[in-house]
Amino acid sequence: MAVSLLAALFVVLLGLGLLLRLSLRRRRSDIPPGSLGLPFVGETLQLIAAYKTENPEPFIDARVRRYGRLFTTHVFGEPTVFITDPDSNRFVLQNEGKLFECSYPSSISNLLGRHSLLLMKGNLHKKMHSLTMSFANSTIIRDHLFVDIDRLVRYNMDTWDGRRILLQDEAKKITFELTMKQLMSVDPGEWTERLRKEYLLLIEGFFSLPVPLFFTTYGRALKARTKVADALRSMVRERRREAIATGREEKYEDEVEKKKKDMLGALLESEEGFSEEETVDFLLALLVAGYETTSTIMTLAVKFLSEAPAALSLLKEEHDGIRGKKKPGESLDWSDYKSMPFTQCVINETLRVANIISGVFRRAVSDVQIKGYTIPKGWKVFASFRAVHLDYDVYKDARSFNPWRWQTSNSTTSSPGNIYTPFGGGPRLCPGYELARVEISVFLHHLVTSFSWEAAEEDKLVFFPTTRTQKRYPINVRRRKTL
Ligand code: HEM
Repeated sequence: MAVSLLAALFVVLLGLGLLLRLSLRRRRSDIPPGSLGLPFVGETLQLIAAYKTENPEPFIDARVRRYGRLFTTHVFGEPTVFITDPDSNRFVLQNEGKLFECSYPSSISNLLGRHSLLLMKGNLHKKMHSLTMSFANSTIIRDHLFVDIDRLVRYNMDTWDGRRILLQDEAKKITFELTMKQLMSVDPGEWTERLRKEYLLLIEGFFSLPVPLFFTTYGRALKARTKVADALRSMVRERRREAIATGREEKYEDEVEKKKKDMLGALLESEEGFSEEETVDFLLALLVAGYETTSTIMTLAVKFLSEAPAALSLLKEEHDGIRGKKKPGESLDWSDYKSMPFTQCVINETLRVANIISGVFRRAVSDVQIKGYTIPKGWKVFASFRAVHLDYDVYKDARSFNPWRWQTSNSTTSSPGNIYTPFGGGPRLCPGYELARVEISVFLHHLVTSFSWEAAEEDKLVFFPTTRTQKRYPINVRRRKTL
C-alpha cells in the first residue's frame, strides 16, 4: 500500500516537473537561457558540491561561459535566474519593492519572526529601515557606541595570551556581546552567556534542513528561538517598567537617559507604538543580521593577512603608529578609527573575496524585462555580488587577495553606479555597514598591537552552508612585548 502511494506520488511529481519544463520550453525565447537540470532537484546538487569547496566559482563560470551573464537554473526547489553583471544587479537592488520583493522560505521566517526588518515590506519597511540606519549612523557610533566597542573587544582578548583559540568562535562571542550592548545596553555576564548558548542553536537552524522535529537541528533551533524571544521579552518588559518609574523618580534619570540611545530605547520611544511581539522580533533579527556576517569578516581578514605577510606588516605599522601616540592601555577614539586607511583597504578586500552574503534572492512581482530577457512573474532571481566581485573584467587579478588595489579606488560604498556591493544597496542597504567596519577595525587594532599568532592547523575556506573556515580557524596566540 505504502509502496503504491509512493509510486503514485512519484508519478504526480514527475508529471508536474515535466509540465514545468514544457511550459518553460514554450517561453524559452524570452527567458534567460540555461538548464533546469534534473526533475525536482534541478542543479541544486551541483551548486552544493561547488560551494562545499574552496573554489565554488566553476558553478557560475561554466554557466556564464555557456549562456551569458544572466542564466536560468533550478535550485532549492525553484527555477531561478542567476544575475552576474553589475548593471542588472543594481537594477534588482534598486527595484526592491517595485519589480522585485525580498523572498525567504517560511522555514527562515519562522526563525526570524514575522516582524523582522528583513521580512517587512512597503511603508513600514521604509520607516523601520531608516530608524535602524539612524541608530547605527556615524554620529551615534562616534558619540555612544565606540567606547563600548573598544572596551568589549579588549575585555574579550584579555584571556588569549598563551592559548590556542578558535578565532571564529571568539569573533562570534565578541560580535554577540557588542550587539547585546548596542541593542539594549547589557554588559556580558551570566544572562548574556545563557542567551548566547540558546542563540547558537537558533543560528544553526538557518543552515539546516527545515525538518521541525524535536531531535533535528531545525527543531532545536525553533525551541531555542522561543527561549531567546522569552529572554528578550523579559528585557523589553523591564525597560518599559523602568521608563514608567523614571517618570516618577528622578534618581533613575541618568541611567535611563543612557539607555534611550540604544536600539531598544529607540523602539520604545518610537511614535509607531510597537507591540511587545514586534519589538522582540525586531531585536532578534538585528542580533541575527550583524552576528555571523561581522564575525566571519573578522576571522577571514586575519586568515588572509596571515597568508599575505607584506599586507600584515603594513597593517601592523599603521596600528603601531596609532598605539605609539597613546599612553599604555589608553582607549582608541573616533579620530584613531579615521586614521586607519590601510585597514579599510584590508576590510574592503576581505569583503570582496569572501563575503558571507554572496548575493541576494528576490522574487519578481510582475514579468520583468531585463537585458532583452523576461523574468516571469513569481520567479526567483539571485543577484550574485560575488560573481561581480570576482569578475576578471571588473577587477584586475580578481581572484587574489590584494588590499593595495583599494588605495587607488574610492568606491567602497554601495552608492548608485557602484559595482562593489558587499552591503547590498537600494532600499535594503545594510543599516549596519558602518558599525561593522568600526567593529572589524577596532578588533584588528587590538589583535595586531597586542598579539602575535600563527595558524595552529591548516584550515580551509568553504562556502556551504555558509562562508566559513572548516576548522573555525585555530591559532596559537602570544602577547607582544609592550610597544
Ligand atoms: C560585515 C558585516 C555585514 C555584512 C557583509 C552585511 C551585509 C548585508 C547585506 C548584503 C544586506 C542586504 C540584504 C538584502 O538586500 O536582502 C544586509 C542587510 C541587513 N543588515 Fe547587514 N551586513 C553586515 C553587518 C550588519 C550589522 C553589524 C548589522 C546590525 C545593525 C546589520 C543589520 C542588517 C539588517 C537589519 C539588514 C536588513 C535590511 C533590510 O532588509 O532592510 N548588518 N546586510
